[in-house]
Amino acid sequence: MSSRPALLLPSPSSRSSRPSRSVRRPALLAALCAGALAVTGLTAAAPPAPAAVSAAVLPYQDPALPVPQRVEDLLGRMTLDDKLGQMTQVEKDALVPQSDLAAYRIGSVLSGGDSTVSPNNAQTWADTYDTLQRTALTTPLGIPMIYGIDAVHGHNAVRGATLFPHNIGLGATRDPALVQRVGRAVAEEVAGTGIDWSFAPCLCVARNDRWGRTYESFGETPELPSAMTSFITGMQGDTLGADPASVLTTAKHYLGDGGTTGGVDQGNTQISEAELRAVHLPPFKEAVRRGVGSVMLSYSSWNGVRSHANRYLVTDVLKGELGFTGFVVSDWAAVDQLDGQTGFTGAEIATAVNAGVDMVMVPHDYKKFLTLLRGEVSAGRVPLARIDDANRRILTKKFQLGLFERPLTDRSYTSTVGSAAHRTLARQAVRASQVLLKNDGGILPLPKNGKLFVAGKSADDIGNQSGGWTVGWQGRSGAVTEGTTVLQGIRAAVADPSRVTYDRYGNGIDGSYGAAVAVVGETPYAEMRGDRPGSMGLDQEDLQTLARLKASGVPVVVVLVSGRPLDIAAQLPDWKALLAAWLPGTEGAGVADVLFGDFSPFGRLPMTWMRDASQQPVNDADGKTPLFRYGYGLTYDSDPGPDPDPDPDPEPSPAKACTATYKLVNSWPGGHQAEVTVKNSGTGPITGWSVDWDLGGTSVTSLWNGTHTVTDGHVTVRNTASNGSLAASATTSFGYTASGTAGTPAPRCTPA
Ligand code: GLC
Repeated sequence: MSSRPALLLPSPSSRSSRPSRSVRRPALLAALCAGALAVTGLTAAAPPAPAAVSAAVLPYQDPALPVPQRVEDLLGRMTLDDKLGQMTQVEKDALVPQSDLAAYRIGSVLSGGDSTVSPNNAQTWADTYDTLQRTALTTPLGIPMIYGIDAVHGHNAVRGATLFPHNIGLGATRDPALVQRVGRAVAEEVAGTGIDWSFAPCLCVARNDRWGRTYESFGETPELPSAMTSFITGMQGDTLGADPASVLTTAKHYLGDGGTTGGVDQGNTQISEAELRAVHLPPFKEAVRRGVGSVMLSYSSWNGVRSHANRYLVTDVLKGELGFTGFVVSDWAAVDQLDGQTGFTGAEIATAVNAGVDMVMVPHDYKKFLTLLRGEVSAGRVPLARIDDANRRILTKKFQLGLFERPLTDRSYTSTVGSAAHRTLARQAVRASQVLLKNDGGILPLPKNGKLFVAGKSADDIGNQSGGWTVGWQGRSGAVTEGTTVLQGIRAAVADPSRVTYDRYGNGIDGSYGAAVAVVGETPYAEMRGDRPGSMGLDQEDLQTLARLKASGVPVVVVLVSGRPLDIAAQLPDWKALLAAWLPGTEGAGVADVLFGDFSPFGRLPMTWMRDASQQPVNDADGKTPLFRYGYGLTYDSDPGPDPDPDPDPEPSPAKACTATYKLVNSWPGGHQAEVTVKNSGTGPITGWSVDWDLGGTSVTSLWNGTHTVTDGHVTVRNTASNGSLAASATTSFGYTASGTAGTPAPRCTPA
């Protein structure tokens, strides 16, 4: 492309019959001209009196008109350059000069993982957004740009924002309603910085824990990510754009990113179409049902075909079969990968756009991209109809979001960033995400008046407890942002903090302590840098720290801060208790709440826990014998069960446990019938059970073989007098009819 863009003017048709947007602001233009002349030393004649202009706005500028009508009116005014620009997403720091945003009609800006502002605070992010938006609005048609960012566990690019547990922890809560509230809180913080769009939630179904993005997955079964699409409703609202804090969400990464062979990030998912549809597609189907605004494609391939080149999956299945009406965005420079060479070509762009990509996350060389894309259209290799379809999809979301009416930051939300209310919610989410895997002799909850030794590299490290995507793509250890470490939570919880001793390495411990808490696990990582093709055990520092504690003879409680299950079976017999804390985020006090019994844990494993790394991939009902099964989790009043020996017996299930399995029996417009099978999955008999789940906007109209109560959209079903007693492995079931579309509930069973 020449150094200057071709003269970019609205198409002739838009100028003949209707005044352009600029006519509507003669006073402003006159002032700008006078100002410019004054600067050049010329004296401007008094600006002419503003010509009388019609009070009417152009149809696309009229919020009273239906969105489809606004879209068609605007599309009819757009030049090809306008349309190609709308399909172009550019990294904020690549826009040089920033005026290129208008000159090249760029439709979207993003901040990638390491893109930031200085100083890094909410105010500066909001100011940066508004400056960019004001530039975008200077184009003849004044189409607002849409700004995207990875707010994947809070507004994690912003220092001081509230960071929630990563998805693996939220999956452990089994609480879609809680996750919806988290989505709303994140939306408020994102909106408070002006940003309109988050590249979340990841709806990946992580099947091999070696994958570096396992922690971005809500769980290894399609049911959990499907249930947690409630995050979408939390972030967008029931109707996109209905209130100023509504933020566009992204279901990612389509399709099969969590199923690659060996858990290799951006690898190859080598499975049948039946398995792809059964395991990886349901969360996206549920996301579409909930009105997700965008879908991001996966770098990975399905049986050797890159998702970004897979027209069948993107256009035929996602847009056709599932009826997705939002827009598809490519991943960061993913188009470059299609021919196996560095950089991108016109052919790669045509392949991706023709496959169904509507917006390309270039993200840097936007001039080259626009030149090549224009060339592909001019050559007829990308039909204009495809360009128009992509623009309709993008513009529809911009109109629905209210960007044309509210293009700038709503500063009333800026103060929500890192607010006490959000931190309180995050602490609740941390508590609910804790999974108690071992509690020998009921050592937990700890007494608040005991003499306690705390050790481990992650006890006092907010960076470690937040993980990747934290004030930087990879995250890092250390005081990366404001919050409460696990140690600070412990000290705040006990009666006398002076009775809590901390040494990262366990040095100084002796037999005078009542217990030792070791907070160990993984340091931060993201994407491929977190892949673990080899060992999945603890690092040497942790092992040495644990050895020091063990040598003292003091009972050891281990808190595992990690993005996935780790290979710890060999060390487990030395531990009196094990609490999987996952990556809790900024509110580490939520871990302390569980350690001291201010909250009784009820979290359950979202991933099967391997006996050793050679079992990977290991998943629910795959016939292998894990250390802890999918869905396992103790409470403070459940039987701790046998202490698994170094070569643990299969599945040390607790004496009392049950599972609930949902099955859609029938559906019809406006309603459906389902059946839930209750199984005694423990080692002893149970005399009763209850099953609960989030109704997701549906309502029970009839129910049999159980009694139910509903509170706040959450239903609890209890056994009848005749089906409460179940011997080990015995099953019973109940059925119900409900209004609304079924969705994919994740029922949770609790033995009486
Ligand atoms: C990344 C990730 C994707 C993210 C995007 C923008 O490489 O794969 O999840 O949304 O780039 O940061």
